[in-house]
Amino acid sequence: MNPATLKGRSLVNWKDWTPDEIRYLLELSHTVKKSSRNRDVHQRFVGKTLAMIFEKRSTRTRCAFETAFGEEGGHPVFLSTQDIQLGAKESIEDTARVLGRMFSAIEFRGYKQDTVEILAQKSGVPVYNGLTDEYHPTQVLADLMTLEENFGKIEGRSLCFVGDGRNNVVRSLLIICSKLGVNLTVVSPKELYPAKELMDEVAPWAAASGAKIAVSSDTGAVRGTDCIYTDVWVSMGEESYSEERRRLLFPYQVNAALMQKTENPAAIFLHCLPAVKGQEVSIDVIEGESSKVWDQAENRKHTIKAIMLATI
Ligand code: CP
Ligand code: NVA
Repeated sequence: MNPATLKGRSLVNWKDWTPDEIRYLLELSHTVKKSSRNRDVHQRFVGKTLAMIFEKRSTRTRCAFETAFGEEGGHPVFLSTQDIQLGAKESIEDTARVLGRMFSAIEFRGYKQDTVEILAQKSGVPVYNGLTDEYHPTQVLADLMTLEENFGKIEGRSLCFVGDGRNNVVRSLLIICSKLGVNLTVVSPKELYPAKELMDEVAPWAAASGAKIAVSSDTGAVRGTDCIYTDVWVSMGEESYSEERRRLLFPYQVNAALMQKTENPAAIFLHCLPAVKGQEVSIDVIEGESSKVWDQAENRKHTIKAIMLATI
């Protein structure tokens, strides 16, 4: 893989990235983290600008992009939809063309996947999906980095996502795990199984990498897994489903009993955060020994810096 081919690339989801390209980003992420631990100072984004558009709230993603870009000498500009015309008075296409004339790259967090795809098509600069209703690609790179820190080689390791099997995080996990040979079982009530179209779409990647991708409504499916991962029951923008989700997902809370069902004392716990403690995860699990959620949150910054270094 020639890293020069990544210059100018966007990340809207992982579908158009090859396994080798993703592995390169993971390696670069570990290098970035080591360098940060050594307190090395680099100025690799001097003279560069990053537009950061947020339609939805964010702590980790915003802070990761802003600090990663700024500490390398770049100038990040935060733009909430309260401030700019995006889609309101001006079309997404026109906003994309204008921002492309002023910025070296664009980050977008919001509702529609279409918006980030139009920005990527029309701006002429790299565009990063910081979360949409459909995908959360930068998150899952940090997740795999965290798995590597705990297990070394991740090919052939297994992950169980327990919770809302249709959300943006699990959809991105399905793609990246299929491509990199990580076994993934989505454990959720049947009503919240991932869409068949996505399962069909990832199947050839899984066949090529050897990843075993499965769904189950039985929490016994966590037996033997290396990692249990969960996310909020109600994603941003889905607040009207709160009651239904609580009813459906109550039996799927990640608690000590579920961790024990793995029968693997070395199994770790991951959560993209923010967490609703006492709902999708019990306090003792998220605060316990097996929880790696703070490393995972820190790794958002290293992976996001690696993505920008590779593509800008
Ligand atoms: N995990 C994550 O994306 O967190 P934020 O919503 O705080 O950015
Ligand atoms: N699925 C969650 C992820 C938050 C980082 C949401 O979309 O709200």
